Amino acid sequence: MAFIRSVIRGVGAYLPAKVLTNDDISKIVDTSDEWIRERTGIEQRHIAADGELTSDLGIAASRQALVRAGIDPVDIDLVVCATSTPDRTFPATAVRIQAGLGISKGAAFDVQAVCSGFVYALAIADNFLRSGQFKRAIVVGAETFSRILDWSDRGTCVLFGDGAGALVLEAQTQLGNRDDRGILSTTIRSDGRFEELLYVDGGPGSTKTTGHLRMNGREVFRHAVQKISGVIEETLVETGYAPDEVDLYVPHQANKRILDGIAKRLNISPDRIMYTLAKHGNTSAASIPLALNVAFEARRLSERKLILMEAMGGGLTWGAALARW
Ligand code: ACO
Repeated sequence: MAFIRSVIRGVGAYLPAKVLTNDDISKIVDTSDEWIRERTGIEQRHIAADGELTSDLGIAASRQALVRAGIDPVDIDLVVCATSTPDRTFPATAVRIQAGLGISKGAAFDVQAVCSGFVYALAIADNFLRSGQFKRAIVVGAETFSRILDWSDRGTCVLFGDGAGALVLEAQTQLGNRDDRGILSTTIRSDGRFEELLYVDGGPGSTKTTGHLRMNGREVFRHAVQKISGVIEETLVETGYAPDEVDLYVPHQANKRILDGIAKRLNISPDRIMYTLAKHGNTSAASIPLALNVAFEARRLSERKLILMEAMGGGLTWGAALARW
């Protein structure tokens, strides 16, 4: 039976030129390259220049994805941007990206699910494409987390970086079985009881300020291993795949020890996991598409490869998506 799937046509990414190494951070707060590497696996992160906005990063990433897809921007009818660091409280950063790409039809909106934002945005775009309401979508993860960090808090400022990544999706008719190309399954979850573990202490409706990121690192770590392992297992059971049938796991890049903990729990071999956090740090909603872009450029994402993306973030929110490239 014919079945519409959201097929991935192109991937793109953008990283700001400025690199901040662990040694650079040790001149700002009391930390060391050794501590950061050992506890997180992070070596450096990119930081947006003054005046370089989340939408600028998103536009650059989208342009590259469109060129690789061979699709003209005017043929895009949906732009979904996952971000927690919008240029302005409104309009949505997605609308600014849409305008920057020269698109004036269809719809554009932001999704706010912090580090799980890209999985949420992918799930939303996939549902719109499969319903037939839109034909071609750009799903962007774009962040300038450097602007919401407390640069005097060594427990958080060492972890994050800026960047953007994008996927171009197109609705295509497939056979409707597990060998199809495109997004095969998405699962999104949230539980607001854990808000105090990871949040920003400001906002237009509460303090009238932007605020700074606050985190209980140990508890976030514990929930991440538990919740992400759970949602990966759920996805595999639902789609009927064994863990070793997945060619590449492309996780949200929060902490190498979180990724190692999940791999150990689910018996996933490290050579099937995409690691980019050493060079990018945690770029929140941008980390999965940035990692997809690195995998693509390293030729680890040839046609028909089975990939599993997963994330957990503030909210708490979490989720996973299985796709065949
Ligand atoms: N440099 C040096 N020392 C530090 C630093 C630092 N940057 N940060 C904290 N410390 C110190 C603490 O002050 C503490 O010192 P004390 O024992 O004298 O009090 C000591 O190191 C241990 O602190 P912990 O917070 O217990 O360290 P832990 O081993 O838990 O590592 C970390 C902290 C890296 C934040 C870890 O908890 C973690 O990665 N958690 C996951 C959080 C995460 O990834 N969040 C991202 C957003 S959510 C997501 O993306 C999934």
